[in-house]
Amino acid sequence: MIDAHYLTAQAQAHRLRDEFWHLLCHRSELPASGDYLKLDWLGQEVVVFNDHGELVVFDNLCPHRGTRFFTDSHGNAPLTCPYHGWSYRAGAMHIPCRERYAQADLARATLHTLQIDWCADFLFAAPAPRMALEDQLGGTYNLLADVSFNIAGRSDLNARDFACDWRVALENALEPLHVPFVHPESLAQLQLGDGVNTFTPWTSIWHAELGNSAMIKKLRSVKRLFALDSQYEGYQSVYLFPFTMLSSTFSYSYSLQHFFPAAQPGRTHFSSRLLNGATRPASAAALQGFFDASAHMNRQVFAEDQAICERIAPGAIDDERFATLALDEEKIGHFRSCLQTALAV
Ligand code: FES
Ligand SMILES: [Fe+2]
Repeated sequence: MIDAHYLTAQAQAHRLRDEFWHLLCHRSELPASGDYLKLDWLGQEVVVFNDHGELVVFDNLCPHRGTRFFTDSHGNAPLTCPYHGWSYRAGAMHIPCRERYAQADLARATLHTLQIDWCADFLFAAPAPRMALEDQLGGTYNLLADVSFNIAGRSDLNARDFACDWRVALENALEPLHVPFVHPESLAQLQLGDGVNTFTPWTSIWHAELGNSAMIKKLRSVKRLFALDSQYEGYQSVYLFPFTMLSSTFSYSYSLQHFFPAAQPGRTHFSSRLLNGATRPASAAALQGFFDASAHMNRQVFAEDQAICERIAPGAIDDERFATLALDEEKIGHFRSCLQTALAV
């Protein structure tokens, strides 16, 4: 049974999706015409499609009778509907047997696109944003732009549903307090320090040093293989309200994570994509093993996160009894106040 509380939480999630900007992808993930990427949020889909070099973001629905264009999460294909052959290319709909449709209907036959904006090479989209992208990103704008210049492609896409509220999954990603307990063989190996949190109205950033000196030595030894624009020699985790995290060790690769609410209450469409740091031309092959190992490690970390998130009681997220936060959980406090502010207007 779905109670009124859940309906409210779902309605709130719709507002957050519709009224805020979301970092959907990096330009280098869709380099060729026909490349696409499909994400799911709240029972709808959002597709980024490379139309002859222009990135278009739309709802994946054919404007004729609502057939989904794409069913895979990513790939390369023409934007052509398999039902009656309508297609979109070079910015226009192409409709077979045009004369069989009323002129007025054809005038309305356009893709349902979202608004887009760029922060350097990061593409953001929003159905009806309440503020400019620069205002939402605030002081994090320049850092993100610098990060975007480090990235040269994608090497992994890991999508899995978490059987928990999206806020539970996100709050878990916002605090390092659980790392030694939940990730003893994976993330905890970095021996992350206390680090420093930085806050803007709609973003938060955690910078932490690594404590594992053998690991630091190993990471420094591959630096010459990369062609990075900027580097942070530590662990950096950027949170973008409401649904997105971007984290990195030594700026060699970035894990772009989405915690999208699902249509079904108490479920999260989680995905993480590994975005590669730019490498020197001669070292791409040498680094393949490094990127594969990073992807493998990230998958293990997220499986561990999923297991612990699914152990949290469904009602706990909205119960004052369970709102005790340690200092290391300061970013959760910031997230909760963002939520309040966002939903108060
Ligand atoms: S539904 Fe797509 S062409 Fe008819
Ligand atoms: Fe975790």
